[in-house]
This record gives sequence, C-alpha cells and structure tokens, in this order.
Amino acid sequence: MTNTMWGGRFAASPAEIMEEINASIGFDKRLWRHDIRASKAHVAMLGATGILSKKEAETIARGLGKIEAEIEAGTFNFSRALEDIHLNVENRLRELIGPVAGKLHTARSRNDQVATDFKLYVRDEIGAIDAALAALQLALANKALAHAGTVMPGFTHLQTAQPITFGHHLLAYVEMFARDRGRFADAGARLSECPLGAAALAGTSFPIDRDMTANALGFDRPAANSLDAVSDRDFALETLAAASIAAMHLSRLAEEIVMWTSPQFGLVRLSDKFTTGSSIMPQKRNPDAAELVRAKTGRIAGALQALLMVMKGLPLAYAKDMQEDKEPLFDALDALKLALAAMAGMVEDLAPDVEAMRKAAGLGHSTATDLADWLVLNLKMPFREAHHLTGRIVALADAKGVELKALTLADLQSVEPRITREAFKALDVAGSVKSRTSYGGTAPSNVKTAAKRWIKRLAKKPLSRKKG
Ligand code: ARG
Repeated sequence: MTNTMWGGRFAASPAEIMEEINASIGFDKRLWRHDIRASKAHVAMLGATGILSKKEAETIARGLGKIEAEIEAGTFNFSRALEDIHLNVENRLRELIGPVAGKLHTARSRNDQVATDFKLYVRDEIGAIDAALAALQLALANKALAHAGTVMPGFTHLQTAQPITFGHHLLAYVEMFARDRGRFADAGARLSECPLGAAALAGTSFPIDRDMTANALGFDRPAANSLDAVSDRDFALETLAAASIAAMHLSRLAEEIVMWTSPQFGLVRLSDKFTTGSSIMPQKRNPDAAELVRAKTGRIAGALQALLMVMKGLPLAYAKDMQEDKEPLFDALDALKLALAAMAGMVEDLAPDVEAMRKAAGLGHSTATDLADWLVLNLKMPFREAHHLTGRIVALADAKGVELKALTLADLQSVEPRITREAFKALDVAGSVKSRTSYGGTAPSNVKTAAKRWIKRLAKKPLSRKKG
C-alpha cells in the first residue's frame, strides 16, 4: 500500500530502509501537544474565515480533542508507516471523523506545520529552563548568604591569589546564570513569529488570517516571509547556543565542586545524597553528579554544532535535512534541565569546611597584595615600589619556609625599616576580605547585601516569561 497521505502518484510502497530513514515519529511524537494545538488554531481560523464551514471546523476540532485525549491516555497507536506526528494525527482524525479530516490540511503544509510545532515546543522549553535556572540561582544565593563571611582562597591560574568569601564565589555563578536567562529570553523574544500559513513555501491562495493563528498560539505576529518561515531554524540554534553557554557555566561550577571535594583541596563536602562509592576502594566518595554535569556540556555543545552543520548548506526553503533538527535539540535541552536540577541539588547539599577554607586562604602568601596596599596607604609609596618591596618580603618568607604572617617585625623591617606592627593586620585573611568593600568586591558586607538582593529578586516572578 502506498502512503495514504501523499501516495496519490505512487504505485509502490517505500523500501523498508526508506521507511526507516524517513520516519521521524520515533522522536517527534513528543511534539503531539504542540501539533494538536497548532491544528486547532488552524482549523478555528479556517472556520472563522469561511474557508471551511463552521460545522466542518467544529467536527475537526472535536476530533482533534479526542486524539489529544487518546494520546494523553496512552491508547494512541503511533505508526512508523505514517512517518511523523503530523501524519499520525491526521490519519487518526480520518479514522475518527471520516473524509472531512482531509480538509484540515487546507492552506497548510507540513513545512509550516512542523516549524510551528517546533517553535511552540522550544518556547515551552525556554520557560522550563528559565524556571530551572532561577531555582539554581536561588539555591546559590541562599548558600551565599549563609557563607557571606566564610573566607576561602581565591585563585587565578589556579594559584592562590587573594582571600575571598565563599558567598562571593557562589554569587559569581548567580550573575552568570542571570546572563543565561537573558540569552534564553532573547531567543524566546525573537522566536515569537508564527510560521503557520506560510504553507509549503510560497504562501497560499486561500484567504487565511495569519494574525488570528499567530495570536491564538501566543506569538507576537506572523512570520513575514513564507520562505523564511519554513526554512528558519534560528530559534533552535539560538536556544542551543544559550544552552551551550549555560552548560559551560554549569561545567565550570561542576569542575570546582570536583576539585573542592577532592581530599587534596578538602574545602567542601558533598553528602551521601550526591556522591557515590567505589566498588573496590572503600574510602572513596566520588562526586559523580558533578562529573556528569560537567560531561553533559559536551553533548549540549555538540547539539549546537550538529544543527549548525545540518543547516549550513541548505538552499531555501524546506529540505528533509531539517528533520534532523529535533533529536539534538531534544537531547540537549533534556540534558540541560537534568544538569540544572542536579546542580541545584548539589548546591543545596554542599557544605564548606569553614576551618579548612580559612586555613587554605592564608596559604601561598595570599595577603601579599594587602601588605603592598598597606605600604601604599601608610608610607605613601607608589604601588609599583610597594609591590617590589613586598616581593622581597615574600622571597624572605620563602627562604625561611614560612607564610608572610609568620615573619617577625624585624624580618619585615630588614626590607623596609618604616614598617610597623600595624602591618600584620593587613596580613590577616579575615581583615583582608573585610577591606574589599569596593563595588562588586568580596567583603562580607557586600556579599550579604548582594545575596539578599538576589533572593528578593528571585522571589518575584520569573525574569521573563512570554505569553502562551
Ligand atoms: N517530519 C518532517 C520534519 O520533521 C515534517 C515535515 C515534512 N515535510 C516534507 N515536505 N516532507 O521535518
């Protein structure tokens, strides 16, 4: 039997392997809600414009409602021979309401249909991801508030740089995830043009009302060019780009958790809830969840590359290549949502070892800059000279095998005689972070204010939520 949906001019069925490579129902069935929603909007418009009679439109809408209930209940039989979600739904519609089902596809093609369904799906996903990002931000901000004054080593080049507060470190990620939410919101805003009614590629001669369908589906307006409408996948690419950057941020945090929880760093502990044991080494507590979050970034960024490669050589308008847009996006956004939830769980779970952090913060002459600043402030020295003198003091400490703080006043004065006992205050890690009150600096007072501001902001409605 030839395909009943498009088989008019075909005498024979497709080869088995043709059916296999052609079918997308295995993965695009997850668009069923969006497909039915778009079809309902389309048929309502066909009825309202008189392209179909009111009765025909109502019969079709009722049939679509029935199919929705069947899929919801799990009784719908998806068939690979029917290729994709669009033809599966339409075929069932015909079984349910007879030949009038064939009128649903008036002034429409699968090309504008799939573009519309996919946009609706991506828009929903953007909403879900925004909520997941907000939840993670809240977990980070709460932990930051609890540890606004917890001192830890700050690194550059992964070398001890200056003492910072753990809260400050966590709030850095809150800022990153805020930018991610902005990127998703931007993608969502640009996505808001409805392809439905572009038909196959050229538009249609039927007197359709594209504003009506665009509006019914929660888009801002119909897409202005029918060729562009059916061949555009920018919205998927932009969303994957935003997802890749967010995943990269998650991966950096995951990497830090892996390092912090290693016995060599020993700064943070994850509970049994977020670690696994080894089947051979009884002492192990492995941060598998963090490692997997780090690894998911690979497939998310890979999905962006995959879709870019699918799209890059395609002449206008639709080509079947574009069916390959779905699996990478589904996989990447599933992975991102899972990674965001796992990370929020880990952030809530993780407990810094406050004492170990404070100790580590004092290692590696981390307050050398504070001493240089002290020289500038108290001896009115140019910073470059203060830097040089402090360098000599560091060398002295290294020669003696001690931290700066353990030098004697005589040691300090052997390099600069005007140094007084007061200078030791600058070498204290708590004093160091407390002094960093410049806007955006690590001082506990700053961190407390910033964390509170975020918590308040996050308690309000999501950053951005498109209608629909
Ligand atoms: N399953 C197809 C896809 O995902 C639907 C569009 C098919 N259009 C066509 N002209 N064959 O892209």
